[in-house]
Amino acid sequence: MAKRILVTGSTRGIGVAIADGLASETVIRHGTRDGDGILGADFTDPQAVASLWDAAVDAAGGQIDVLVNNAGLFDQVPLDADDADWSAGWARGLAINLQAPADLCRLAIAHWRERGVGGRIVNIASRAAYRGDGIQYGHYAAAKAGLVGLSKTLARGLAAEEILVYTVTPGYVMTGMAEDYLASRGGEKLLADIPLGRVADPEEVASLVRYLALEAPASMTGSVIDVNGASFVR
Ligand SMILES: NC(=O)c1ccc[n+]([C@@H]2O[C@H](COP(=O)([O-])OP(=O)(O)OC[C@H]3O[C@@H](n4cnc5c(N)ncnc54)[C@H](OP(=O)(O)O)[C@@H]3O)[C@@H](O)[C@H]2O)c1
Repeated sequence: MAKRILVTGSTRGIGVAIADGLASETVIRHGTRDGDGILGADFTDPQAVASLWDAAVDAAGGQIDVLVNNAGLFDQVPLDADDADWSAGWARGLAINLQAPADLCRLAIAHWRERGVGGRIVNIASRAAYRGDGIQYGHYAAAKAGLVGLSKTLARGLAAEEILVYTVTPGYVMTGMAEDYLASRGGEKLLADIPLGRVADPEEVASLVRYLALEAPASMTGSVIDVNGASFVR
């Protein structure tokens, strides 16, 4: 039977590649706003996250088997921003990159426990969780490090219930954001830092997520897998 999978942030970039790569299954797509085949929820609104989960369960016919937390925001919050902008930037980044995925994990776990079934969670974190990021992106690195810590905690706490949690930590991936940067004067420096000589394709991340969502052995739960062309080797 096809697995029922919620992929957050599947309007563009890596999320589209993940959703397309799972096309053999029943995929529920999400973006900030409702659209054609897209369930809308702005993750800066906690109530919208809960409503998304309910809508996704309905759209999937009453059960979700796999949650892929992919939605994310990578925006600058400079150290010298004024106080209000600094606080708002951190609150926005943490809400989208950490609190919403945590809330969705919690809802998924309750859903599986109610039904007495197992499930899988794939969290998309970032190389930034381990390496840190540019000086304007401290909130992003902190949120992604938090997501790694949450994933490991859930994996350890829930493995006996066959709720499996995997994490992917990409380096630069060729989405709109990376393309702009590569086209700029920073591009050459960025590539020089990647032994593979190129940034990752979204499809490379998607094929790994497909494996984790559908096939990865239970004993791999708790693992964090890098996709970064050896630009940061742990
Ligand atoms: N690209 C990279 O180089 C890279 C590297 C490491 C990790 N990652 C991680 O990989 C994931 C996907 O990245 P990407 O590059 O594919 O991103 P992207 O192209 O910018 O797409 C971001 C996705 O998240 C959704 N999103 C943004 N703000 C949201 C909000 N307030 N509420 C709900 N959803 C929101 C977007 O929906 P809308 O279209 O509706 O705005 C979109 O579907 C993210 O978690 C990112 O941190 C990316």
